[in-house]
Amino acid sequence: MNLFRLFTRDRAAPTEPVGQAAGDLAASSALLESLLGMAWVVEARDPYTGGHLWRVSRYAALLCERAGTSRTVCARVSIGAFLHDLGKVGIPDAVLRKPSALDDDERAVIQTHPELGARLLAGHPLAHWAADAVRSHHERPDGLGYPQGLRGDTIPHAALVVGICDAFDAMTSSRPYRSGMPVAQALERIERELGRQFDKTLGKHFLALGAEGLLDHIAGHSDDGIPLQHCMQCGPTLVLRREQQPGDLVYCRNCGGEYRVSGSPGNPPDAVEATGRRGLPQDLAPAADALLIRRFVVDLASAPWSDQPGDAPIDAPVARR
Ligand SMILES: [Fe+2]
Repeated sequence: MNLFRLFTRDRAAPTEPVGQAAGDLAASSALLESLLGMAWVVEARDPYTGGHLWRVSRYAALLCERAGTSRTVCARVSIGAFLHDLGKVGIPDAVLRKPSALDDDERAVIQTHPELGARLLAGHPLAHWAADAVRSHHERPDGLGYPQGLRGDTIPHAALVVGICDAFDAMTSSRPYRSGMPVAQALERIERELGRQFDKTLGKHFLALGAEGLLDHIAGHSDDGIPLQHCMQCGPTLVLRREQQPGDLVYCRNCGGEYRVSGSPGNPPDAVEATGRRGLPQDLAPAADALLIRRFVVDLASAPWSDQPGDAPIDAPVARR
């Protein structure tokens, strides 16, 4: 049984014809792809966060797997991780793209994004897969998080996972006002915050993944085997796509600088060189990487999810670690 079968089974009449079920599978995949595409475009508003959603969802899937979370819940958490910052669509550019640290008022504005994300998601047919991660990924076990100031075990499992992965990616990514820290240093920070900012049990699993080098192929990448590139003029990220060929053009989303993709034919692109030109408005419009999103959904849909003990139905209450 696969993930989407579990989803549709929960809603299908037992006598539903096979053709109808297949149609529901396709509809669920399409719904999920469109939702992930919207999250991608929201992320693209911030030129410094290229690949963030992909990395956080990959870290989350690894962490769930290491923690022994059931495969269906694992899939749901990785979808939540991809969607966690959906609410940033409502944050003004002056705050989201501010080139220096935020002051208290600006921090209060950005702290509205989890609840806005939850409101945007409410009513969507797949909302229940991602709502916990979207609403609660900034909650902390010590109660000092937001928006609700939840404590310890009252924080949903998905939110605890995404909270660790999101913070790790933020620490290891560069911002306009600071460089990203090395993986080892970010892991030390997480270790110091176990039981305070981060769930102790999940945090220890994450540290073990880091110690084994299993986070290294994700940190600083925007897809498997594709290292993040940076604008040589102004610094933000340039996200290359697997299907791009040497000679294709990409643009800095901050200054509009044009870059030519390079790399060896037959391999994912892994370098850029500046052309000295600037993109036209149509070159700079954000667009989701539809093929990456399709691969993400196909991987979820084709995984051999089961109804065996420990692999809970998609709508079951989320198991603790
Ligand atoms: Fe967030």
